Amino acid sequence: MQAAFVVDDFGRQPYIQLMKKWKVGVVGYGFISGKGHIPAFAQREDVDVVAIADICPERLALAQAALPGVRAYASYQELLAQEADLDILDIATPPCDHAEIAVAALARGLHVLCEKPLATSTEEARQMLTAAEKAKRVLFPCHNYKHAPVVKVIQDAIDSGRLGEITSVTLQTFRNTHAKGVKEWRTDWRRDRRTSGGGIAMDHGSHTFYLTYAWLQALPISLTAKAVRLAPQWDTEDNLTVTLEFPGQKFAHAHLSWTAGMRKVIYTVQGTKGGIVVNDDEAEISVGFPNTGSHSGTADHTVEKFTIESDWMDASHTKWFNSMFDKFLKAITTNDFVNAEIRESYACVEVIEKCYRSSEEGARELKLACDFAR
Ligand SMILES: NC(=O)c1ccc[n+]([C@@H]2O[C@H](COP(=O)([O-])OP(=O)(O)OC[C@H]3O[C@@H](n4cnc5c(N)ncnc54)[C@H](O)[C@@H]3O)[C@@H](O)[C@H]2O)c1
Repeated sequence: MQAAFVVDDFGRQPYIQLMKKWKVGVVGYGFISGKGHIPAFAQREDVDVVAIADICPERLALAQAALPGVRAYASYQELLAQEADLDILDIATPPCDHAEIAVAALARGLHVLCEKPLATSTEEARQMLTAAEKAKRVLFPCHNYKHAPVVKVIQDAIDSGRLGEITSVTLQTFRNTHAKGVKEWRTDWRRDRRTSGGGIAMDHGSHTFYLTYAWLQALPISLTAKAVRLAPQWDTEDNLTVTLEFPGQKFAHAHLSWTAGMRKVIYTVQGTKGGIVVNDDEAEISVGFPNTGSHSGTADHTVEKFTIESDWMDASHTKWFNSMFDKFLKAITTNDFVNAEIRESYACVEVIEKCYRSSEEGARELKLACDFAR
């Protein structure tokens, strides 16, 4: 706890409030932690980043320069061994190491924030959720796309009931390349299966899939997928097309590409009373086109168009981070160890894993268990 002077809503009478200062250790000082997490932590009064570990000496030196006084370690093991006083470990390494680091941190009694994808297999993801349950510590994923301003507007429109029952969604993510990691380490690790666990499905699939769960308010029951590798020099796919079936004959269709001619997201949501289309910051909500299939009822429709700055071009997504981190803190303060978000994260890993299997088997339809998630 630390005492903080707080000014009231009218700017008067400072009073003293006891505020918990969370002591955070960060593993991996690469793009997302250097440009996203740590700048976002710097905006908070309730977080102190006290320790950093990175296996790349140049990155560790950059971390020390950016955070004077931070204790720096050459491995997560050293950090966990030396830092007796931490509350939270923030994991921002490539996916192949998420499970090992998270399980060790949970066993040490730390709450864990973990970048997506949670893990590179359901087996690893299961070990992580089981470790959180056993340690009675929160494991929480960085599902930051839910916190993009325009995505919040979609969710509010769905939750308001204006669109009726949501029956189908489409999510298209276009990139002209894979995201690059920092140049001091291995900038193309996302195309190396041993490190990434897979290509665009593993790298970006989580964002797509947890949004489908939120918009269709359920977990999928089956899928059929096709993964394609256009760039022959890598061992990972750069395009994925997948159809997810949800209970009640509802569907999500997603296409993700690293070989597109632009950087953009295009999302649509269709309900029994209306629909939404989002093209980056531009959104359009139509209400009054009942989708009965009878082509009737279009007389009283309304179409609302608006722009919501959501910083899609800034891949660090710093501005979305703190709203997500607040949810993580809420899970900690309510002892919600194996929370809904981490269960969804597990379901994302299962969907990704089954996308690969479906594609290998000629886009065969596969049933989903999502057993830790339901
Ligand atoms: N949520 C998002 O919007 C978003 C955006 C970008 C990246 N990410 C995720 O963040 C993670 C990191 O991606 P990045 O783009 O920052 O990669 P990066 O290559 O820029 O950085 C990775 C850093 O981790 C370090 N590292 C590697 N293995 C390590 C280990 N075992 N222990 C300690 N340090 C280690 C490297 O030296 C490097 O500094 C990935 O899981 C990625 O999917 C999420």
